[in-house]
Amino acid sequence: MEFKCTAKSQLLSKLATNDQHGENSPYFDGWKAYDSDPFHPTKNPSGVIQMGLAENQLSFDLIEEWIKKNPGASICTHEGVNSFRDIAIFQDYHGLHEFRNAVAKFMEKTRGGRASFDPDRIVMAGGATGANELLMFCLADPGDGFLVPTPYYPGFDRDLRWRTGIQLLPVKCKSANNFKITKEALEEAYENALNSNIKVKGLIIANPSNPLGTTMNKSTLKDIVTFINHKKIHLVCDEIYAATVFRGPNFTGISEIIQEIECDRDLIHLVYSLSKDMGLPGFRVGIVYSYNDIVVNCGRKMSSFGLVSSQTQHLLASLLSDEEFVDKYLFESAKRLANRHDRFTKGLEEVGIKCLESNAGLFGWMDLRGLLKEATFESEMELWRVIINDVKLNVSPGSSFHCDEPGWFRVCFANMDDETVGIALGRIRMFVGKGKEEMQGTKKQRKQWKRSNLRLSFSSMMYDEKMIVSSPRIMSPQSPLVRART
Ligand SMILES: Cc1ncc(COP(=O)(O)O)c(C=O)c1O
Repeated sequence: MEFKCTAKSQLLSKLATNDQHGENSPYFDGWKAYDSDPFHPTKNPSGVIQMGLAENQLSFDLIEEWIKKNPGASICTHEGVNSFRDIAIFQDYHGLHEFRNAVAKFMEKTRGGRASFDPDRIVMAGGATGANELLMFCLADPGDGFLVPTPYYPGFDRDLRWRTGIQLLPVKCKSANNFKITKEALEEAYENALNSNIKVKGLIIANPSNPLGTTMNKSTLKDIVTFINHKKIHLVCDEIYAATVFRGPNFTGISEIIQEIECDRDLIHLVYSLSKDMGLPGFRVGIVYSYNDIVVNCGRKMSSFGLVSSQTQHLLASLLSDEEFVDKYLFESAKRLANRHDRFTKGLEEVGIKCLESNAGLFGWMDLRGLLKEATFESEMELWRVIINDVKLNVSPGSSFHCDEPGWFRVCFANMDDETVGIALGRIRMFVGKGKEEMQGTKKQRKQWKRSNLRLSFSSMMYDEKMIVSSPRIMSPQSPLVRART
């Protein structure tokens, strides 16, 4: 019998092998560079420092302390094992009552008590990743478009687009007005879609923004609600960073806005998660909260593919119902984030690097336009390679956030300890200092510096991009392909 050689890609589905996942972007390449040479204070002090990871690791001690004081909250302890059987067999996709009640209360708290949430509208998902995809499956068909303001979280390409087949349509925001969303930009993106015969089904916003670290004011939010209401399209608000707001103005969630202006509530949907506000991305707790009854019902059926484990629900129900703990945690976490943000941005300012003014998030949006050879995305990539290969910091270039202007970089500051922040700042200081020396130095020195510090040629790269892009890999647990959700 003769066996024909079939191309490998033909053996698999189009969905599995399509290139909409976005893993070949520099955002993920930075992770790979970190993966192959991770910084460790004693074992690898010259390794790459991971500043591309939006994780909130500053308040773990508070949660650990609570767990020690409340051993009965877990079914895997002597004190809690009595609930083991009930919890182990629980599989209702509505979720535990106590869990939904506690999450609804927590969401209310993180929005300053200015909006309340109905536990029966809470649908579970596997993190905000699963929640965003679940909503797309409910709201749009393959080929339909969703507007998204730029710069936006790179994971949206995967979460919203990859398996659903929808298209993301950029709403271009500019540095001239601090990347604020304007009515004009929304209208323009909408018109462009219509001219390309794309059916626009909705608009998705992240508030607070990843990567900007800014919160939207009431007037912008009202403009947005008016816009989607007028066009009769959906609004998805990803509020995953709600409680990372560490400085005024207060966070205003969409639930507060729709109490203040008239709109068709069937169009409003919220995504939430405990990955950032509680620093628990590994727990995979995602929430869809829709004001539309049909979406709640369909979403609940779909949630079977990404439920939160009953063990996690059980533990979190206790933790989040402890109001005294939650109040203390939210207060302390915001304080620590503010301190870290200030230390980091002041450190950058001292060497002349500015960040966009921000009051939320786990990162800064660094303006390195002045360090580009030319105002192009090619130059941005050159600079990024220097930063990752020579300065040994994994920061993420603006192009991977679909930023419309070259020279912006996102740098995360809440996933490391104080010492590592000091080392990262020291490296930046040296890098910029050498650059300044070069500017003042002779032509000869300039050439030398360029050769030794700005190793921009592909041959000098520390890892082979081509290999990274095309070779089959065994995924380590730290692999960007596994972890790069942030
Ligand atoms: C805006 C935004 N949405 C969603 C996610 C995914 O979060 P989760 O870990 O809950 O899936 C992230 C993670 O960085 C994010 O920044």
